[in-house]
Amino acid sequence: EKGGYDCFMEKEIFEQPDGIKHTLERRLDESGKIVLDDIHIDKSYLDYINKIYIIACGTAYNAGILGKTAMQKWMGIPVITDIASEFRYNQNFVDEKTLVILVSQSGETADTLAVLRDSKKKGARVLAVTNVVGSSIAREADDVFYTWAGPEIAVASTKAYTTQIVALYMIALNFALEMEKISEAEYFDIIDKMKEIPSKVQEVLDNRDYINVIADEIVGSEHAFFLGRGVDYALAMEGSLKLKEISYIHAEAFAAGELKHGTIALVEDGTPIISIATQQNLFEKMVSNMEEVRARGAYVVAISQKHNKEVEKVSNRVIYIPDSEDILSPIIAVIPMQLLALTVSSKRGLDVDKPRNLAKSVTVE
Ligand code: M6R
Repeated sequence: EKGGYDCFMEKEIFEQPDGIKHTLERRLDESGKIVLDDIHIDKSYLDYINKIYIIACGTAYNAGILGKTAMQKWMGIPVITDIASEFRYNQNFVDEKTLVILVSQSGETADTLAVLRDSKKKGARVLAVTNVVGSSIAREADDVFYTWAGPEIAVASTKAYTTQIVALYMIALNFALEMEKISEAEYFDIIDKMKEIPSKVQEVLDNRDYINVIADEIVGSEHAFFLGRGVDYALAMEGSLKLKEISYIHAEAFAAGELKHGTIALVEDGTPIISIATQQNLFEKMVSNMEEVRARGAYVVAISQKHNKEVEKVSNRVIYIPDSEDILSPIIAVIPMQLLALTVSSKRGLDVDKPRNLAKSVTVE
């Protein structure tokens, strides 16, 4: 059942090229346009709403932050992303003019389901992005987008995350086109670039040996930090969640611009800092942050595109990923971080698929 892999997480990481391909390409019609079968939202509704909330937990929340970036960029509408267990008890502004998007692999997460019910009571429309057909969230939502990732068994979410990002981007693109906020040319251009992602993900998977070298160097660490700006910060959050939940190394994500506001005090000789530098407009800033932590003795592992050779000067190790559009790069850049968490966990002799204290589906608060 593990298909020759050592554990489900490994199998699921390697299933990502297929999962992404299915989620995207099975929804394209002959003209190459995205068809969202179970979403019945039209232009008049999109013109009527004044904001979107994207609510989720854990990895699904991390995917939601990227969804927000895409929706704000292409649809030009305010989007707020929040954690379900916070959102439901804090003051929020859900009303008829709000679209609530819930992201949940299992479709059974208690806090996310509670937000669904509250939001419907307040008159909002609820769109679910989920991987499980017939799950509670899928059944109760007004509209559904199924991530066709296939069953995810390992507690650590991998293929659900990458397909959730693809799903949120596809929704954003379709809504933006409907609202006439992007041109057809731009729409098709991004879809074409998305079609290239599965082979780029495969390329990273094929280079997994290098991750082994880095895993050996951080396996004994007590702490590890992840650094990024913009979408790379959202990605840093996902990288640190993966590492902490299955390797039990204390891992945290820092927005690179926050270093001087406190976090740089934690850097000691040999502290591993995984630094993600995939955003062209933020690249120089990121490089100078890497320089700062390196000067304080950090062991810097850079993740960047092949043409950004400059990162070599400010890091101990570099993981190069294939080039792509800035907003699409997280789907590729997360792969080495998943592999790193997996490798460190198994080198520590831990149960990769079933980390202590955690359940796959969190159906109680
Ligand atoms: O099933 P859901 O997507 O609603 O689950 C949300 C989180 O519990 C889940 O992503 C969790 O954070 C994973 N263990 C992360 O790898």
